[in-house]
Amino acid sequence: MSSTAGQVIRCKAAVAWDAGKPLVMEEVEVAPPQAMEVRLKILFTSLCHTDVYFWEAKGQAPLFPRIFGHEAGGIVESVGEGVTDLKPGDHVLPVFTGECKECRHCKSEESNMCDLLRINTDRGVMLNDGKSRFSIRGQPIYHFVGTSTFSEYTVVHVGCLAKINPAAPLDKVCVLSCGISTGLGATLNVAKPKKGSSVAIFGLGAVGLAVSFFSIIRLASNFPIQNVDAEAKLVRFVSISQAAEGARIAGASRIIGVDLNSNRFNEAKKFGVTEFVNPKDYKKPVQEVIAEMTNGGVDRSVECTGSINAMISAFECVHDGWGVAVLVGVPNKDDSFKTHPMNFLNEKTLKGTFFGNYKPRSDIPSVVEKYMNKELELEKFITHEVPFSEINKAFDYMLSGEGLRCIIRMEG
Ligand SMILES: NC(=O)c1ccc[n+]([C@@H]2O[C@H](COP(=O)([O-])OP(=O)(O)OC[C@H]3O[C@@H](n4cnc5c(N)ncnc54)[C@H](O)[C@@H]3O)[C@@H](O)[C@H]2O)c1
Ligand SMILES: [Zn+2]
Ligand SMILES: [Zn+2]
Repeated sequence: MSSTAGQVIRCKAAVAWDAGKPLVMEEVEVAPPQAMEVRLKILFTSLCHTDVYFWEAKGQAPLFPRIFGHEAGGIVESVGEGVTDLKPGDHVLPVFTGECKECRHCKSEESNMCDLLRINTDRGVMLNDGKSRFSIRGQPIYHFVGTSTFSEYTVVHVGCLAKINPAAPLDKVCVLSCGISTGLGATLNVAKPKKGSSVAIFGLGAVGLAVSFFSIIRLASNFPIQNVDAEAKLVRFVSISQAAEGARIAGASRIIGVDLNSNRFNEAKKFGVTEFVNPKDYKKPVQEVIAEMTNGGVDRSVECTGSINAMISAFECVHDGWGVAVLVGVPNKDDSFKTHPMNFLNEKTLKGTFFGNYKPRSDIPSVVEKYMNKELELEKFITHEVPFSEINKAFDYMLSGEGLRCIIRMEG
């Protein structure tokens, strides 16, 4: 038992008081965990674009004051009643979408959309009692997607915590708590490009480049895709340049990166992107540009922008007969997807995914092991690091499209 178990903890948190206003470092009170909840000490967190959308609240429902943050790594401080599979000292990654292990989704091999703990961006309180565990002088501060990692301590439902190898460096594997696992899963579990496939990626931030990185490794492989044992070897990391070279020799793998920010293109080459399209450079819709480049369309496309126009283009740019498009970006509240039904009749498939279809508790510990076995490279995605007191800089980097992930160090 830690000495703080059962007590209110006072600690620093970066509070968003209002939409789009810089976060303010405050002393908050963090209540002890209730039934099926866990209180953890966050060591490292990073910024994902989903935090930024809800903080800007331009196309999303505003809920303030709120503590954002959902990509992080931490250590269990204390556990509430009924928590049996975690104990103080365990290393965990919090995940914005949970796994109760009991519902029909958790029991299905095909779904990670847990009935109880699936992502809910409108809820700012804990499920147990409908209240927040954070307060400042008695005023409740809302949670965000059940994680709120921009705080030295936070309270999370046990179903939203993946217990990981304590030897894994949290300053690196924290990026597996959202963006990079999402890109990995969107590629391997959902888009499933086959050897020789062409892939279009819309949005070359961390999520899109994770898709590129894992696509090229998969495409370059000599293993048959259907073989499950071989599948594990597919992501065995050689090096991206070796993988790209392998793909070139195999005569495969066109990876077309689409972004409105041309500054992304240089960096994207290091992640296997072979061709670039900036929609601003063309008068016609980007789906037509891609169809011309690829003799009718790409085999797979993955959208990682959050822009409704990019989502529609990503669907319409896949080849008829077999093309599959996967939506990953988080849309605005009032967006609607408009396309001609003939696209479906022409046998194009549209899919979407949260967290790359991974179940956080069951699947993420082994994704972390892939990093430990040098089958995944995470360092390439980490371009900045700031102390917690300078968390607003991480927002500036993302808003200016500079770099990929910025790690926020809670201590020192
Ligand atoms: N589904 C999930 O589980 C999940 C998980 C993590 C992130 N996301 C979402 O994925 C998206 C990417 O996240 P990120 O952290 O990599 O963001 P990011 O800001 O680092 O990257 C997004 C990129 O998209 C580009 N872009 C924006 N609009 C575009 C358009 N219309 N056409 C082409 N490019 C465009 C931007 O220039 C930027 O380079 C966000 O929408 C985020 O909310 C979803
Ligand atoms: Zn995220
Ligand atoms: Zn469930």
